[in-house]
Amino acid sequence: MTSKQFVTDHKERLVAELTSFLKLKSVSADPAYLSEMRLTAAFVLKSLQDAGVSTSEICDTAGHPIVYGEYIKDVSLPTVLVYGHYDVQPADPIELWDSDPFDPVIKPTEIHPEGAIFARGACDDKGQVYMHIKAVEYMIANDTLPCNVKFMIEGEEEVGSTNLAIFIKENSAKLKADIILVSDTSIIANDIPSITVGLRGLSYVEVEVTGPNRDLHSGVYGGTVANPINVLTKMIASLTDENERITLPGFYDNVKDVSEEDRAEMDKAPFDLDAYKQDLGIAAVSGELGYTTNERTSIRPALDVNGIWGGYTGEGAKTVLPSKAYAKISMRLVPNQDWKTITDLFVKHFEAIAPKSVSVKVTPHHGGQGSVVETNFDAYQAAAKAMEETFGTKPIPTRSGGSIPIIALFEEVLGLKSVLFGFGLNSDLIHSPNEHYGLFNYFKGIETIPLFYKYYTELKK
Ligand code: BES
Ligand code: MN
Ligand code: MN
Repeated sequence: MTSKQFVTDHKERLVAELTSFLKLKSVSADPAYLSEMRLTAAFVLKSLQDAGVSTSEICDTAGHPIVYGEYIKDVSLPTVLVYGHYDVQPADPIELWDSDPFDPVIKPTEIHPEGAIFARGACDDKGQVYMHIKAVEYMIANDTLPCNVKFMIEGEEEVGSTNLAIFIKENSAKLKADIILVSDTSIIANDIPSITVGLRGLSYVEVEVTGPNRDLHSGVYGGTVANPINVLTKMIASLTDENERITLPGFYDNVKDVSEEDRAEMDKAPFDLDAYKQDLGIAAVSGELGYTTNERTSIRPALDVNGIWGGYTGEGAKTVLPSKAYAKISMRLVPNQDWKTITDLFVKHFEAIAPKSVSVKVTPHHGGQGSVVETNFDAYQAAAKAMEETFGTKPIPTRSGGSIPIIALFEEVLGLKSVLFGFGLNSDLIHSPNEHYGLFNYFKGIETIPLFYKYYTELKK
């Protein structure tokens, strides 16, 4: 039986099982969901066991558990290590969902006429993790698994993978493999397959600006005492210039210029700017001068305020000159920039530009390195061949703007390259209300993954 036939024969069950997985509220950021995280890890463990892996366990960490499983056919054969995450982003703002984020519903959309499953984590990353479990189930049941497989599914990707970083350092022997296979990225469109060959790095900081030692009457003091919100907004505004370049001294030092030839190659990927603007409801795009929209999200860094607060934000008007103002700021980095260096640079710069009238405190959150994946190696070729067969057209290598910091550590700590074999779409609303995953994409993944194993093992011989 082919993997395509397997999907056709089991469609209903494949959707029903994913639905059960998505009902579990595995929000890693919120301590209120601690026990639900454990239940979700147990669900993943049981799914691996049902798929037929020979060894499986829940690995406790200082945070949420990691689920590990393996099926070793023959130690002389290659080993694929599947990585993914069962944790999801918080569902907020809940009132913007058309249905309960943890009670999946299936509905067709314009892009997914055959239906999409709506739930938090549907695409990022439960739906994509589950494709791998089902693909391995198919291969074990049909005796077509050509090599060894290991699974490492974590519960802290959305909060920075700190404990996974420790786990891989302590378990490098257990994790011995030839390649890492990850589905946690997207393709260009359902008729334009692509394989991600670059991820951006990240530095995430929180800033606090303090003015007077208490909230003041904005009439009595307004005009004489620095308002921390006024100051903070000016400081933030100064972090980018009129060409949307980031002004931190030294920020671009390690940004590698991409050759004109490579830029021309990347520019071949289909992209419709009008459709992009229309989808987002914007009249114009904005970004660093001299670069295209795709370049701005892939080969160039970006600085964004993710949240800003302070003062009075309730109903009506309260006249107040606040004592404090806050913001959360992210910097998306390109592969050669070191996130710790950039974080230090930010702290120093932000302190340096603060006027005497306020004090500032910068608290770094998580971060991580970006990564680039070559296309001229066996695993990429195997992935491309698998996609070409199931989509009927060759996948395009693309760089993504998102971050999966553990990918760089896999290379650094385990010496392993990754194949970013994602099947989602950028329009699937990951991290947003109404996240969904196309059934076409889910089924296509289950159909395609076994072919990767086949071609990879053949190329390794
Ligand atoms: N799966 C995403 C990353 C992603 C999204 C890659 C789209 C490519 C395309 C991942 O779960 C994620 O959200 N990562 C975070 C970083 C993390 C350190 C919190 C991100 O990119 O914001
Ligand atoms: Mn993800
Ligand atoms: Mn995510």
